[in-house]
Amino acid sequence: MSDAPKKLHIKTYGCQMNVYDSERMAEAMGAKGYVLTDNPAEADMVLLNTCHIREKAAEKVYSDLGRLKPFKDEKPDLKIGVAGCVAQAEGAEIMRRMPLVDLVVGSQNYHRLPEMVEATDRGERPVDTEFPTEDKFDLLPQRPLSARPTAFLTVQEGCDKFCAFCVVPYTRGAEISRPVSKVLTEAQKLVDRGVREITLLGQNVNGYHGAGEGGDWGLGRLVRALAKIDGLERIRYTTSHPNDMAEDLLEAHAEEPKLMPYLHLPVQSGSDRILKAMNRKHTVEAYLRLVERIRAARPDMVLSSDFIVGFPGETDQDFEDTMALIRAVNYGAAFSFKYSARPGTPAADRSDQVAAEVADARLQALQALITEQQRATQAGMVGREVGVLFEKPGRLPGQWVGKSDYLQAVHVAAEGLAPGVLARVRITASGPNSLAGELIGA
Ligand code: 5AD
Ligand code: SF4
Repeated sequence: MSDAPKKLHIKTYGCQMNVYDSERMAEAMGAKGYVLTDNPAEADMVLLNTCHIREKAAEKVYSDLGRLKPFKDEKPDLKIGVAGCVAQAEGAEIMRRMPLVDLVVGSQNYHRLPEMVEATDRGERPVDTEFPTEDKFDLLPQRPLSARPTAFLTVQEGCDKFCAFCVVPYTRGAEISRPVSKVLTEAQKLVDRGVREITLLGQNVNGYHGAGEGGDWGLGRLVRALAKIDGLERIRYTTSHPNDMAEDLLEAHAEEPKLMPYLHLPVQSGSDRILKAMNRKHTVEAYLRLVERIRAARPDMVLSSDFIVGFPGETDQDFEDTMALIRAVNYGAAFSFKYSARPGTPAADRSDQVAAEVADARLQALQALITEQQRATQAGMVGREVGVLFEKPGRLPGQWVGKSDYLQAVHVAAEGLAPGVLARVRITASGPNSLAGELIGA
């Protein structure tokens, strides 16, 4: 049989773990003869890998599904699947509300996707959102050759922290760490295929405690073992909780040059009252002290954070305290969100929800301050020498783009570069979203 390969379109919402999961699903389907397409109109199967973290993200899935209706009307064979955290949380509801959906696969079950697609061939509408006993990572096919020099590697999933606003402990389940040997093997394979930078992923990645030689390993020890892999030049990890920044990890930042000086360390709020109500289990002072220790270990560290404004009960003073924390830390970047009440989370039931206009105004003020700090961080790079890992040609002829050690986009005009080249660059100019530089010694 020489049928043309079937085409799969995947749309990924939300966090980097979904990006990683989408790649794994593409591989699982690749083994079944599906190739990827960017164009949903020519796809034989469309898979939405969804995010449940805020209401807007979850609702978007339903409107995007609605938008697929004309495609399905035109091509009744088109298969439509919903994966990820909305699938996990509301699989049955998706099937009820959206008759055009053929299958729903939860975030722990995507290794079963090919057999679920086969079931749809028999006219079934499978839903699989159970937490399985087998390890999906074991059952997925090998990762294929990657032309990109950077890769994500999931080392930990789930969260036991139960912040009062957050659905992750329910959608992604309890914390699970992959064993050290599996992480090291996957990392080595990535490096053999040309990857130079690995970002270790986990919902609570610095809570990593994988089984390794001699017992449980923390993230610091894992990082040091990864750093021994020849050809792996850079290691990053995300996302971290302040309470899990172990001494060993701080030491790794001080001693391991492959561990990059950029850390995403969400604090969410700068008010002790709100932190307590959020069940974050640390104070503002503890966070600021931790930031000091991180900068003592690695003085050039660039920090980023997540913030939520308009958490139930947040007063003007609480918000001012958050602004004060931002001024005290000085972030290189941050993500900020209006609080979104998520069904099933403790904060959703509170009667003191903040008015939308108030939350809007706070979000604007916070984002203006962050933008100011981000610009200042970028401008402060001018004249400095940084490492840049080049990824692809830029928009202008002869231009190459890569990422600095601090995760900033950098472009240079230079000959002879290629994806995966790590070079020293002197930064010559800064913009809000990227830096310009020249190769040192070129
Ligand atoms: N409302 C708004 N933002 C949220 N986040 C998580 N849950 C909510 C919610 N219910 C934000 C947090 C988290 C980031 C990934 O998303 O800031 O760190
Ligand atoms: Fe959600 Fe809090 Fe866990 Fe982060 S630490 S995933 S915000 S519950």
